Amino acid sequence: MERDLFTRAAAPLPMPAGAAHLAGFALAWEEALLKELARITAAAPLRHMVTPGGQPMSVAMTNCGALGWVSDRRGYRYVERDPESGAPWPALPDAIRELAIAAARHAGYAGFEPDACLINRYAPGARMSLHQDRDEQDQAAPIVSVSLGLPAVFLFGGLTRRERPLRVPLVHCDVVVWGGPARLAYHGVAPVADGHHPKLGPQRINLTLRRARPPNINAR
Ligand code: SIN
Ligand code: FE2
Repeated sequence: MERDLFTRAAAPLPMPAGAAHLAGFALAWEEALLKELARITAAAPLRHMVTPGGQPMSVAMTNCGALGWVSDRRGYRYVERDPESGAPWPALPDAIRELAIAAARHAGYAGFEPDACLINRYAPGARMSLHQDRDEQDQAAPIVSVSLGLPAVFLFGGLTRRERPLRVPLVHCDVVVWGGPARLAYHGVAPVADGHHPKLGPQRINLTLRRARPPNINAR
């Protein structure tokens, strides 16, 4: 297996109950992920959404899957179409779906079926402040987060803002899963340091797979 500056020997880092760090778990899907990522961002380009307060986010975003997470002056929500083009979000590629299901199962969450995949791009300096993922109607399902490209420090806190977050260093192809007692844990990403990844250049890409709507709603 190829190892470089940005890939460390696989060793999971300890996480709180309900959460798991799966070191290098996405390596088997790497090639497919990079190919699908190029296809998705060509159809639904990465863009800096604005917060409800009107501030552009430092992270650029797009989506694939039945539902996509968006933020604008009206708030945060999941929508079926890309507001920039009016077209449905690109379909969730099989390889990404399979990776998410396998990672969830590995972390103890069998039966995960994602319907939303948010794609985040961090240029050096971009960050994500501590927040909870609570725009999903289905909070029984876990969250699966795949890291690609430049390393980053993932901040993983407790169920209140007061708990000091763990600092979890993530590298290319690491996966983090959280659900159950950790489903509403506060989390964020420290500013990404300068660098150049051999496969992705000067950026970190994160795929966040979620179940936004309960299965019975999507089946209608
Ligand atoms: C997120 O919380 O949506 C993104 C987390 C990450 O980029 O690792
Ligand atoms: Fe999040």
